[in-house]
Amino acid sequence: MRAIGLPLWVVSLSAVVSLTLNRRTLAAALSPSGMVWALLATAFWVMLPAYVPNNAAVLAGGGRPIDGGRSWGGRRILGDGKTWRGTLVGTLAGVGVALGLTAVSEPVSAAAGISLPAFPLTAAIGLALGAMAGDIGASFLKRRTGRERGAAFPGVDQLDFVVGALLLTALFAPAWALSTFTPGVIAAILILTPILHVGTNIIAYKLGLKNEPW
Ligand code: CTP
Ligand code: MG
Repeated sequence: MRAIGLPLWVVSLSAVVSLTLNRRTLAAALSPSGMVWALLATAFWVMLPAYVPNNAAVLAGGGRPIDGGRSWGGRRILGDGKTWRGTLVGTLAGVGVALGLTAVSEPVSAAAGISLPAFPLTAAIGLALGAMAGDIGASFLKRRTGRERGAAFPGVDQLDFVVGALLLTALFAPAWALSTFTPGVIAAILILTPILHVGTNIIAYKLGLKNEPW
């Protein structure tokens, strides 16, 4: 078992590594810290258009709720925390970030020594709208499980928008998603996102922008 297990492990690890890296990153990737840095930086870059919408929605929120105040089974369908204005402004902010990153992707890639992708419009919309949709889906689940507006739902709160963004991007820009979201990048996203999410929400709470620190 051990004799078979070790080579298998080595082969699958090198498959993940070679899938994850392209030629330009290879030199940096030869050192373990270089590889981790490249994966984390790529994860942050590709997810920025999905990170910004939720924060923009907090600033822009208010007005008509998406569910129009309607309830289902004695509870709000989504609640007053999901508004048309917040969703629209959040999505536009995410798309704007993607277009901005695309404009500077070449100089930033050169400076960082890693290949950071440009965002086609389909990917930009998939990431931004997907992040909003994931967050809305989480509110739907929260209301169905008896959680009031603003209640914490650990795990779901930190990753709902990641799942939404990845799914919608896979749908809107399949080829781009396949070449961008390699196993290594996905792993980096799953580690980085909860840390950034908790951090930015605590800052927003301290600044009085959010009612709860999650
Ligand atoms: N917001 C919005 N529209 C969205 C998402 C957020 O208007 N699609 C605004 C709302 O003002 C909301 C605030 O951003 O109150 C914070 O977002 P979030 O924490 O996601 O909502 P909660 O109010 O905590 O409600 P829920 O329990 O449903 O998540
Ligand atoms: Mg909340």
